[in-house]
Amino acid sequence: MGVHVRRFSDPRELDLAAAEWVGRYLRSAEPLVPEPVLGLATGSTPEGMYQALVALHRAGEITFARARTFNLDEYVGLTPDHPQSYAAYMRLHLFDPVGFPLERAHLPDGAAPDPDEAARRYEALLARFGPIHAQVLGIGTNGHIGFNEPGTPFERRTHAVDLAEETRRANSRFFDDPADVPTKAITMGIANILEAGEILLLAKGAAKAQALARALQEKPSPEVPASALQLHPRVTVYADEEAARLLGP
Ligand code: F6R
Repeated sequence: MGVHVRRFSDPRELDLAAAEWVGRYLRSAEPLVPEPVLGLATGSTPEGMYQALVALHRAGEITFARARTFNLDEYVGLTPDHPQSYAAYMRLHLFDPVGFPLERAHLPDGAAPDPDEAARRYEALLARFGPIHAQVLGIGTNGHIGFNEPGTPFERRTHAVDLAEETRRANSRFFDDPADVPTKAITMGIANILEAGEILLLAKGAAKAQALARALQEKPSPEVPASALQLHPRVTVYADEEAARLLGP
């Protein structure tokens, strides 16, 4: 099986290791590929990884000069300047601190009047600049990756989705009023994710333990979207002790 799990007792170590994993593509000296295409996630889990990447950049160890990035997803109905948009998250945590040119930072256009059309445009961009060399993922408490909610066929490509109530509830912590959490998003599909050269799945906290165990230990099925990762030859999982709790020894 292509899934390798590494457990971390110190969450800070996990963040540093995740930044090193991405950083192999960005090294100022001898990057893994000359023009890296990175797939990026938002949410609480990778915040420490972005902080560590910014530190590596400040230390001169990595450069984003030849990189291009594709984010997994974006809420429908939020403009990029909305503080809870994933575009704003990326500017705050990575793009602004490292001076990343925004024309090479791609996210689905959540503010487009027609989300289906915006999904098609994103798919065309991925076809033009992909494949993604290295994809970073988080995992939802319901096993989602990107915003591919349970039941999403593994063949899906970039598409507009109705967010699961569990996802809206989980993400309401970022919004003043739970009613403000968008009901739709545009997400890369599982087929897009599986086309990446290699994948790093990050999981932190007890709330992720069950989803992670099901993803890695059950037969792959759309009921647990992250279980699709078992079908990929190069997946690394970095999990803290709480998230890895149900994985066995
Ligand atoms: C975010 C994304 C989501 C999150 C997941 C976990 O771009 O695609 O799948 O990775 O919802 O979110 P956190 O890290 O906030 O628990």
